[in-house]
Amino acid sequence: MPGASERSELIASFREYLEDLKDTGVDCLELPESTPRGSSITTQIQKMAPDTARVPSSPAAMIAVTETLADIRADLGDCQRCRLCQKRTNIVFGTGAHDAKILFAGEAPGEAEDIQGEPFVGEAGQLLTKIINAMGFTRNDVYICNVLKCRPPGNRNPHQDEILTCSPFMLRQVRAIRPEAIIALGTFASQTLLQSKEPISKMRGNFHDYHGIPLMPTFHPAFLLRSPERKRDVWNDIQLVMKKLGLPLQKKS
Ligand code: URA
Repeated sequence: MPGASERSELIASFREYLEDLKDTGVDCLELPESTPRGSSITTQIQKMAPDTARVPSSPAAMIAVTETLADIRADLGDCQRCRLCQKRTNIVFGTGAHDAKILFAGEAPGEAEDIQGEPFVGEAGQLLTKIINAMGFTRNDVYICNVLKCRPPGNRNPHQDEILTCSPFMLRQVRAIRPEAIIALGTFASQTLLQSKEPISKMRGNFHDYHGIPLMPTFHPAFLLRSPERKRDVWNDIQLVMKKLGLPLQKKS
């Protein structure tokens, strides 16, 4: 049995999880028939979230109700939740390891991504791939996704209602993967995930908290294509992440 403080931490994080799920339209969690009921932890969770669910009765059961990326993709379906569905070619859900230690988060698919259905495959994506390789990884070792899953027409800035509709899906992806760190690429992803208006130049270089996960904002690779002199800053940010995760520091080539 977990101790009292561990139990209250679990309850708090489970409550946050239920609330986030509710925001994305999930109003019920099915539990296995075998899940025992009536423990004090169940009673407490039911008091906190009476309308959200048949809730688990033990920490083990809590883990059992965590969604997988496949569940989230299935829920997204042929999404028609906002106007971006009208002009998109493909939904760009995300790619990489389902248990990645590092998750890269961009803004939204561009033209190449919209056509191929994969994030960061255009010119900026090729630079991101080089950065990932310089860290000693391949794209399959990390997870790459965007806050928005559909391309805004002509790469216009996303509208507030589109962000509100789509961003809960990224939170669910993060909860499914449980990365040890998130690297937010560029102003939009950093400001949206951190609900901040601070300029990227102020946010980068420091860890921030995204639902309990350390998040490092850094410059977007598309910006680096225009301002290659800032590559050094990005590499410094990446090194901080590697150090935090206890990963071997690579020499910049
Ligand atoms: N820019 C992004 O933010 N995401 C992509 O997938 C491609 C370009």
